[in-house]
Amino acid sequence: MAKRKREHYAELMSFDNVLKNPPEMRGKWRESVFKNMRPVVAELACGKAEYALALARRFPENNYIGVDKKGARLWSGAKTAIEENITNLFFLMILIQEITDYFAEKEVDELFITFPDPYPKSRHAKHRLTSINFLEKYRKILKRGASIHLKTDDAVLYEYSINQIMEFGGNIHESIDDIYSLQQIDEIITFKTTYEKRHLALGRRIRYLRFTLS
Ligand SMILES: C[S@@+](CC[C@H](N)C(=O)[O-])C[C@H]1O[C@@H](n2cnc3c(N)ncnc32)[C@H](O)[C@@H]1O
Repeated sequence: MAKRKREHYAELMSFDNVLKNPPEMRGKWRESVFKNMRPVVAELACGKAEYALALARRFPENNYIGVDKKGARLWSGAKTAIEENITNLFFLMILIQEITDYFAEKEVDELFITFPDPYPKSRHAKHRLTSINFLEKYRKILKRGASIHLKTDDAVLYEYSINQIMEFGGNIHESIDDIYSLQQIDEIITFKTTYEKRHLALGRRIRYLRFTLS
């Protein structure tokens, strides 16, 4: 690990908004972490958590959790949240493959997945965050009828996600293959991460799915 990354990791572990013993929070996010009974919304593969930060600022009535496997990226989001005194956003450094170890059944109200790695090679498809093995885990931790929002620039990942959701027996409520071509879009999908800005600058379309799994 490079020196700067090591320093960021050490600092990350000292932040109060980063969970230190996250398995203990399973089933207790509301009572032990947020200390309220408001909705729990997670952003998966949040990176620097730009999306989760935007949601947490805009919707102080919800509880947010940014989830990513990379400490150096979470450091940036967690530091911003501390500097801005954002108290409704916490961070979890885990592999999403293990998400059911950290959330109890039906503990989560909504999920966002923004610009996940597309894993373009078909032999790596099982790593895509909308593959059936991930959908099965999301179904367990989500409340009945809870929405999952996916934003991506990647046409292959978009089509793949539609197929996986249908095969899994999920319901797609919105599928938009160019959100900015619409006259009006829901505010919750208008926030732009650095990745999204980069894709837009390259003239790529931003695609969106809202789906449920139960
Ligand atoms: C392309 S970045 C997008 C970050 C962020 N959503 C954004 O739009 O700025 C993808 C992120 O997914 C995270 N990631 C990929 N696979 C993961 C996994 N299985 N578990 C946890 N994080 C994962 C990576 O660490 C990376 O931060």
